[in-house]
Amino acid sequence: MCGIIGIVQKGKILKKKLGTVLRGCLKNLEYRGYDSVGFAIITWNGELVVRKSKGKIDDVSRKLGFDDYDGVLGIAHTRWATHGKPSDINAHPHVDCKNTIAVVHNGIIENYQELKEKLKERGHFFISETDTEIIAHLIEDYKSRGYDTFTAFKKAIKELKGAYALAFIDKEVPDRIYFARNTSPLVIGLGKNIMFVSSDIPAFLEYTNRVIVLQDGEIGYITGDEVHIEGIDGTIVDKSKRIRIVDWTPEMAKKAGYPHFMLKEIHEQPLALSSTLAGIGVEVEKLAEVLASAQRVFLTGAGTSYHATLIAEYLLNNLAEIPAFSFISSEYNRYGKILTKNDVLIAVSQSGETIDTLMAVRRAKKKNVFIAAISNVIDSAIPRESNIAVYTRAGPEIGVAATKTFTTQVFLLSWIIIKSAQIKGSITEEEAKTLYSSLRRLPEYARNVISINEFLAKKIAQDMAGKQSAYYLGRGLAVPVSMEGALKLKEIAYIHAEAYPAGESKHGPIALVEPGFPVLFTIFDDEYRDLILANIEEMKARGAWIIVNTFEGNEKAVKLSNNVFKTPRVQHWVAPILHIIPYQLLAYYTSIVKGYDPDKPRNLAKTVTVE
Ligand code: AGP
Repeated sequence: MCGIIGIVQKGKILKKKLGTVLRGCLKNLEYRGYDSVGFAIITWNGELVVRKSKGKIDDVSRKLGFDDYDGVLGIAHTRWATHGKPSDINAHPHVDCKNTIAVVHNGIIENYQELKEKLKERGHFFISETDTEIIAHLIEDYKSRGYDTFTAFKKAIKELKGAYALAFIDKEVPDRIYFARNTSPLVIGLGKNIMFVSSDIPAFLEYTNRVIVLQDGEIGYITGDEVHIEGIDGTIVDKSKRIRIVDWTPEMAKKAGYPHFMLKEIHEQPLALSSTLAGIGVEVEKLAEVLASAQRVFLTGAGTSYHATLIAEYLLNNLAEIPAFSFISSEYNRYGKILTKNDVLIAVSQSGETIDTLMAVRRAKKKNVFIAAISNVIDSAIPRESNIAVYTRAGPEIGVAATKTFTTQVFLLSWIIIKSAQIKGSITEEEAKTLYSSLRRLPEYARNVISINEFLAKKIAQDMAGKQSAYYLGRGLAVPVSMEGALKLKEIAYIHAEAYPAGESKHGPIALVEPGFPVLFTIFDDEYRDLILANIEEMKARGAWIIVNTFEGNEKAVKLSNNVFKTPRVQHWVAPILHIIPYQLLAYYTSIVKGYDPDKPRNLAKTVTVE
């Protein structure tokens, strides 16, 4: 949902021109939005230069000559349109009437119409359809009443309703970048005589790994050697307590020879799983204990993270025997009314910033529900607002389609639930031991799954690319895996894909099946392994193209299918982590055959910070 980067240096610190560095940092944020791009720089002789256009970073920066500009400081933006279509005029930064102030923004200003009318009456003129433009004029307006820039900014912020992460520069104060955060993410990067402000850490990892994650209501500015942050009540934040050193390396946020981040991230899963395993500590134990004594557990997330909650829900009900209820985070009201202080809510979000999930957390918190966060980003909003936070260690995920963060979420949740089942006594010590040892073997198995299935995924992708629709069917724990597989194909290969419990397919979906219609069956070594054969037969009888994703040795299913993705035979409780991998590969290669960019699917952004 839009990427922001701001850089300010004390003297000429950067070896390259500022425009080139801004472009490089912005590239690391491209996953957040890619419909238009722009920058504003204050040059060494104090000029404010603003360049922006519709299009992706590489094209726009070539067209506008990003690399030709240098200066003391600058801000840049890659957009995911909310208010106003993608266009040159709606691209950020937006400026005030006098062309002195330039603003970049991520989020939505809910009361912008009202403010715009007020400002128009005061003589301001607007050129874009965006909500962002009013911010520049509002600050200008307060300045015109005699306030200095920071005071004018603080006054302007008080008038804004909605979600924002924003940064602006003022030609009249040419040594600082101002910023504010409310709901949308914003982080500060602290270098030596150079400071950064950005929507996400990978943007500036090449320059520093010392970060401060801003909290809601915080406002401030950076100069080349100073960070000033004030809280919502005006108290000055003690930065020393807030600085974190992130252990991500700049290489982690690069493609490392892979053609796309998504493929790299699929291949990184064995490592991401081992790192998550190595990171299991006291927080996991604590959360397992909380779950073991909970009356009910609710789980929430969006998209892929929601699919992870469905797997956890199944495990909680069946392994730990704790009543569990999963819901899509934007559908809080499904269970909102019945939540009580005796319940636990597990919020799953790789970014930790998805607004729908954050809002569900906030609403549940008001009812004193105990909140546990599962996230991949330390100190992000959802973990911060939760009673306990447990982190996956997948490293930065840049591809818009979640891959390694899904498998690590499921891995971590599975571990926690097995532990709580053990504490509760709903599984024996022996069973727990076997399950842990299955989980420990998954990094190695994940590597096998990739090497066994990648070639086949490439091959199947050739035919899949020509299809309009596909069904993903499974039973039990294989249903959420099917849902996740369908989401992958939909979001990056733009093929209509739907997932159903296989038993449900004959109650309607089968009407669409005709010769050649792809139906992908996920089959674990569980109680459904033979029952599902009848569902395969039903599809086969209608000429469907049967692709089976199953464990090695399931010969009955193999016989009925046209193609088979094979995974090592593991305990079905932990099988989802392996069986999703062939679907990730299939979606990736289908997207490639169709000539799309899987890292930047149309209309999507990595972190969705609007409701
Ligand atoms: C996954 O491939 C999607 N891009 C999307 O559904 C994503 O999982 C969802 O937006 C939730 O994000 P989060 O995990 O950062 O909260």
